[in-house]
Amino acid sequence: MNLFAKKQPAAIPAHVAIILDGNGRWAKRRGMPRTFGHQAGVENIRKVALLCSEFGVKALSVFAFSTENWKRPQPEVDFLMKLPGEFEKKFADDFKKHDIKVMFSGRRTRLSPENLEILDRITSRTADRAGLVLNICFDYGSIVELTEAVQAIAEDVKQGDLLPADITSDVIASHLYTKDLPPLDLFIRTSGEQRLSNFLLWQAAYAELWFTDAYWPDFGRAELIKAFDSFGKRDRRFGGLKKG
Ligand code: IPE
Ligand code: IPE
Ligand code: MG
Repeated sequence: MNLFAKKQPAAIPAHVAIILDGNGRWAKRRGMPRTFGHQAGVENIRKVALLCSEFGVKALSVFAFSTENWKRPQPEVDFLMKLPGEFEKKFADDFKKHDIKVMFSGRRTRLSPENLEILDRITSRTADRAGLVLNICFDYGSIVELTEAVQAIAEDVKQGDLLPADITSDVIASHLYTKDLPPLDLFIRTSGEQRLSNFLLWQAAYAELWFTDAYWPDFGRAELIKAFDSFGKRDRRFGGLKKG
């Protein structure tokens, strides 16, 4: 555990989610193609996952490709579809060293069989690890996640395994990709945009929000400490009253 975490243990969220935004603008500012920014963005996922592991965060959810990102020009989508292969090649050694477990959240109907195979392989190879859980959200969208959950629950009701009155919030949460992760504490978005863009809508119900102007490839240790420091000062009441 690092010094900051030792000094301010309450500032370390159990579960952090990041909308890693601004890769394209970061590249454009350098006169480079958008894909150059995505390349730098992948490298930064590795870096920030290692930082979160060092700070003692339990789970980190990163939004790497949304269900809406298919609307982008085909060459950019093709580039982004190479990401799972990049994760596998580039992250394996470091993640092994730091005991990082990888999981995948996303729709399974549109990704190529090759990408699903890679994501499943990374998941199964790292399944026994006890360190940080890196939740890679790829072809992820909250609305699809919730729609699929409703379909699965309706199927259980149809089969007679569940009564409508027994559909509690816990039942719904148990049908989400994040079912085994701690509740979401801190929701970060880089690049100055201030919207949720269909990321973890249910899970963010009581998350603290943190927006920074930094583009994702520039988001590093200093930015993370700023976010955690702010998180540590928040008064999280969950609808109750202020402590003390
Ligand atoms: C985020 O960066 C990465 C993905 C959405 C895949 P963007 O590609 O959205 O970068 P900007 O927002 O256009 O700068
Ligand atoms: C959200 O960023 C999706 C990911 C980071 C993967 P976008 O750049 O796609 O979102 P909008 O279009 O600004 O809402
Ligand atoms: Mg963007």
